[in-house]
Formats: sequence, C-alpha cells, structure tokens
Amino acid sequence: MKLSVVILAAGLGKRMKSSVPKVLHEALGMPMLQHTIDAVKKLNPSKTFVVIGNGAQAVKDRVKEDGLTFVLQKNLLGTGDALLTAKKELKKGTVLVLNGDCPLITTRTLKKLLAAHKRGRNALSFLSFIDDSLSGYGRVFRDEKGRVIGIVEDKHTTAEEKRRFTELNGGVYVMETEILNHLGKIKKNSSSGEYYLTDIIDIIAKSGKNLNAYDCPQEEIRGVNSRKELYEITEILKRRVVLQWMEKGVTFVDPATSSVHVSVSIGRDTVIYPNTYLEGKTRIGRGCTIYPGSRICDSVLGEGVTIKDNTLIEESRISKGAVIGPFAHLRPGSDIGSNAKIGNFVEVKKSNIGDGTKVSHLSYIGDADVGRNVNIGAGTITCNYDGKKKSRTKIGSGVFIGSDSQLIAPITIGKNAYIAAGATITRNVPSGVLAISRAKQKNLDNWGARKTTAQKAKVKKKIK
Ligand code: UD1
Ligand code: MG
Repeated sequence: MKLSVVILAAGLGKRMKSSVPKVLHEALGMPMLQHTIDAVKKLNPSKTFVVIGNGAQAVKDRVKEDGLTFVLQKNLLGTGDALLTAKKELKKGTVLVLNGDCPLITTRTLKKLLAAHKRGRNALSFLSFIDDSLSGYGRVFRDEKGRVIGIVEDKHTTAEEKRRFTELNGGVYVMETEILNHLGKIKKNSSSGEYYLTDIIDIIAKSGKNLNAYDCPQEEIRGVNSRKELYEITEILKRRVVLQWMEKGVTFVDPATSSVHVSVSIGRDTVIYPNTYLEGKTRIGRGCTIYPGSRICDSVLGEGVTIKDNTLIEESRISKGAVIGPFAHLRPGSDIGSNAKIGNFVEVKKSNIGDGTKVSHLSYIGDADVGRNVNIGAGTITCNYDGKKKSRTKIGSGVFIGSDSQLIAPITIGKNAYIAAGATITRNVPSGVLAISRAKQKNLDNWGARKTTAQKAKVKKKIK
C-alpha cells in the first residue's frame, strides 16, 4: 500500500491570540506540528506533505526535516481547501490526512486506523471519540442504523443535535486518492466563508462508498485552538512521558512538577525530585539523583551523577559519580570528569575538568583545561577575556589553587604546582613550584588606640 501523508498546518490559529503560527507553539519543548510529524514518520510514508500558509516561512524554518514537502495554501479558505491544495501532489494510493494542531496522536493509533481502513475496504475512514465535556469539535452524525452520514461543526449544530450526537471528529482521516476528486464538490459554508473538509463525509456517504469512523482514546486527538487547550495537552503529554520512564525504572518524587521532553532518555534507578526540567537531547545515566529546581538541557550525564538543588546545565557532559551544585551553572561546552565536584555558586564554561577535581565554591572557570585531582579554592577566577579575545587557562593535574586567586589567561600552571591564596597570576607557573603573588603583610603596632585618639582630636576641633 502506497501511503502519503498530508498535515494541514496553514490555519491562522486566531484563538491563540498570537503572532506565532499556531502549529509552532510548543508542547513540551517541541512545536506541536513536530509531534505530529514524528508520529507519522514511523509509518514510513512514501511522502509527507505539510500544507502551510499563515507564517509559512517561519514554519518551514522551524521544522526542517528530510522527506517533508511543503505546499502553500494561498488563501486560508478552510480545511477542505487546504487538502485541495495538496491534491495535485498526491500519487494514487492511500492518503492519511491530519490536522497539524493535534500533537498527542500516536503511531500506534494511526497504524490501527490504517488497518481498520484496509479491513473495512473503506474509501474513507476517520477517528472519533465520545466526550460530553468538550466543545468546538465537529459532531459525527449517524442515521438510525448507526451509519455515519456527516460531520457538522459544533457551532452549526442545534441544542437538540448536540444532545443526540455526542461523537466528536478527531480530525484524522484515511482516504483513497479517488476521494480527492470529490473535494471540488464541497460548498463554501455560508456563515464562516470556509470550505470544510468535514463536508466530504456527507458527499461520500451519499455516493454509497464504504465509510466509517473508528473510536480512539480521547487523549490522543485533543486539538489545540487556544492557550488553555495548549496547557491541557502539555499536561497530558508530560504525564505520558513521566509514566513511560517510571515503567522503565525511574523514580519521580513529584511527577506533576517534573517536565521531561520526549527526546530525553533516563537510566534505571535514577531519582528525580520536584521542579526538575530535563530538556532537548539530554541523556541521564543510571542511578543518578537530580535534586529539586534543576534544569538540564542537551547534556549527557554518566552513571551515579548527583545534581544538587537549583542547578542549570546546558550542552555539557558529566562523567560517572560527579557531584554538581547546589546553585551551579554549567554553560555550553563544559566537560566534567568522573567523581569531580562543582559546588555552590560555581560557573563553568567551555572547560574540561579532570577526574576527581574539586571546584567547590564561588568560582568562574571559563575556557580552561583542568587536569585530575586539582583543588580550586573558593573565589578563583580564570580571567579569560581581555576585552577583545578569549584565551585559555591550562592547569596540570594535582595543582592546588588557593582561594581568591585570579589566573590571567593565556596561562599554564604546571603539574602539582601550588598557588598561594589571593594571587593574581600573570606568568606561567612551572610544575611543582609555589607561586605567591600578593603584597607583603605589614602589622602596624597599637593601631586601634592611635586611631581612637586621632578621631577624638578631630571631634574636639569641630566643637571649637
Ligand atoms: C477541525 C474540524 C473538526 C474537528 C477538529 C479536530 C474542520 C472544518 N473541522 O476543527 O471537525 O473536530 O478539527 O481538532 O475541518 N488549516 C489549514 N488551512 C485552513 C484552515 C485550517 O491548513 O484554511 C489547518 C489548521 O492549521 C489546523 C487544521 O487545519 O492545523 C484544523 O483547523 P482548525 O481551524 O483548527 O479546525 P478546528 O476548528 O479545530
Ligand atoms: Mg483545531
């Protein structure tokens, strides 16, 4: 069976009240259109068309993907007109048509619909669901024998019809290409001025061709027309992803407050505390602990890594057993060795931190290559920027950097060297030496008493 897919994504999305095209609004870090694309990709269709119109260029730029063909709908005249726009591109066979604003649809349900369509030898099949609590969907009309005879949009139905027909249209259709020849028969709706794709149902029913609706979980075909609905489907998606990881052996202390993007993977026996955000291409190893308030984006964590409270990690790698935070910030390009420690209020950027190295408090390590088992004291700063260019700091293994030191890059500190606290290091430090760079201390005798006498004399002078 030759399968083509058409995703309708040209609409204005008026009810979103946004300058961003509706299908680009994100659900769990991904445009809703991308969720739909990912679900159909697994069906291996011969071609996937996306009908674009409103914000066409923005949609094209955002969902760059091999194998997608964009078709431009010039005037947004409704879903019927949108499919008609794609018609000339479609080769004979079966076509799956989906609305681009239903991001919860799964490959499994689509496969079932395709199978049912084939089994029923239908000319047209679509997904429906029953829910009294929702409004704004098309209602499936059936005759006394239970045969589908049409779909009527909610706003065009009477109260009596609403009571009678509680089956709603999910906006996912499978049809044989011959059906597309009937699209031209759809009439413009007199009140909205749109051509409704759903009017094809009535036309096909009357033609006597096989046609059927298949029940599907309500959760999967929830459409997004407003910000409220976007929130609702995001909640469903969040729950779906978290439950999937629970099944694979991950503990969520408070799943309702954890947000895990679909693209993230998490190893077994990892424990995730509340208010945690795992985003993008993040991969978390086995047995990690992620304490509250952390966000981890596009990063890789090895086994047994601990992320303490309120830590932000971006495009970084953390090896086995390392401990990061609380209140740490790993900026892109940070590579943290195994059993290393990055502690309170430490910022690391584009740096390699060796195994067992400790940067425990209040430091900035940027553009640095730090060896193994280095101890970097509180308040150390790699001064990587001279106002024009960035330079690197190289610190050999076994080095001890005393607190409150500044290392002015480019600079190299040799293996096992010591930097005395409070240093400003401007010259390379050879291996094994102790570098001291601070003014010699003077102790002035009896300073306290002398100061008091001088102050008293000053006051007397003023009174006079
Ligand atoms: C549509 C269905 C409704 C169904 C619901 C399911 C129609 C007439 N109604 O209603 O029966 O219950 O979806 O979610 O089809 N679009 C275009 N070009 C246009 C207009 C729309 O490409 O000119 C696209 C939109 O971008 C959107 C999709 O088609 O992705 C559906 O349009 P929308 O306006 O959201 O239709 P609904 O009112 O939700
Ligand atoms: Mg919609």
